[in-house]
Formats: sequence, C-alpha cells, structure tokens
Amino acid sequence: MGMQITSAEAADFRRVLADHRRYWGDRDLRALHLQALVREFGSTCLVARDDEGGIRGYLFGFVTPDGTGYAHLIATRDDARGTGLGRRLYAAFAEAAQRHGARRLKAITSVGNTGSIAFHRRMGFDVRVVDDYNGDGRAMAVFHRTLPLDA
Ligand SMILES: CC(C)(COP(=O)(O)OP(=O)(O)OC[C@H]1O[C@@H](n2cnc3c(N)ncnc32)[C@H](O)[C@@H]1OP(=O)(O)O)[C@@H](O)C(=O)NCCC(=O)NCCS
Repeated sequence: MGMQITSAEAADFRRVLADHRRYWGDRDLRALHLQALVREFGSTCLVARDDEGGIRGYLFGFVTPDGTGYAHLIATRDDARGTGLGRRLYAAFAEAAQRHGARRLKAITSVGNTGSIAFHRRMGFDVRVVDDYNGDGRAMAVFHRTLPLDA
C-alpha cells in the first residue's frame, strides 16, 4: 500500500484523537496530544496517509533552540505495525528536523513500554533510565541519537 507522509493539519489531529485506542490501546495519552503543537510546529508534526487518505501513523515533534529534534509522540495504527511505517515516520521527522537545524534526536517513553524501547533501539537510539524525569517520582526511558540517521 502506498503511503504519503505530510504535515499534520488540525483535522488530522482530531482524527488521530478520535482513533486513539487504535494507536495506544488501553493507555490514555490524550492529555499529551496538544493541538497547539500541530499549529505551531506544523513542519515537524507529521501524519502518514494511505491511498484512500486514511491516517495510519503520526509523529508530533519539534526542534528545540539547542538543535534537538524532540519526538513528543509517535504511533502507528494497529493495522500498520511492523510494516516499516514507524521507521519511515522517523526518517521524515529527522529530515524535517535537520532542515530546522537539529543535530540530534531525543524521545522519552515509560520504562514499561518494552515495544517502544526495542523500536527506538532499532532506530539507532541509545537508552538511559532517568529517575523522576517529569517530577512525578516515575523513572522514564530517555532516548538519544545523533543526526543524520544514516551516519
Ligand atoms: C512503537 C511503534 C511506533 C513502532 O511502529 P512500527 O510501524 O511497528 O515500526 P516499524 O515497522 O517501522 O519497525 C522498525 C523496526 O523496529 C522494530 N520494532 C518495532 N516494534 C517493535 C517491538 N514492539 N518489538 C521489537 N522490535 C520492534 C521492527 O522489527 C523494525 O526492525 P527492522 O527495521 O530492523 O526490521 C508502534 O508499535 C506503536 O505505535 N506502538 C504504540 C504506541 C507507542 O508505544 N509509541 C511509542 C511511544 S514513545
């Protein structure tokens, strides 16, 4: 199936939120989905569309002033997993982030999200566990890697 990766629009944002369970299962991460991100960082908030225009995955991120492409949320829909779509979303994000001056990528996930940790390792990230990352007493897995992706 053909897939196109483009900037996310406000309507795309509403669609992925409506389909939240197909991306995140029982985990409710809706509070981390901020439409302001899509509005203000449109060129680094990406959606993958199939031939019929349906959304199959997304990566919402931004570039920090110190040149870090921060991937805030990445998810592929339950019927698109294991097809290389997550890798393609990261490649498109890395390219967009580099255009905005990023020299490295960063992401975080919960320490129990073993699928995300395995996926990020395959994307070439190193992983470190940081205690009390968000100030709520919970440790988080923090991923780092340098750019470009093919280096
Ligand atoms: C994590 C996620 C985005 C991966 O997306 P995907 O489209 O299935 O990933 P890809 O098919 O592009 O896989 C890329 C590589 O990662 C590996 N990988 C992906 N998910 C994996 C898993 N759960 N366990 C082990 N390896 C995995 C693949 O085998 C592949 O390796 P290869 O390229 O060497 O063959 C997807 O599983 C998802 O949306 N999960 C739910 C949301 C989530 O937890 N997001 C991450 C939060 S930070």
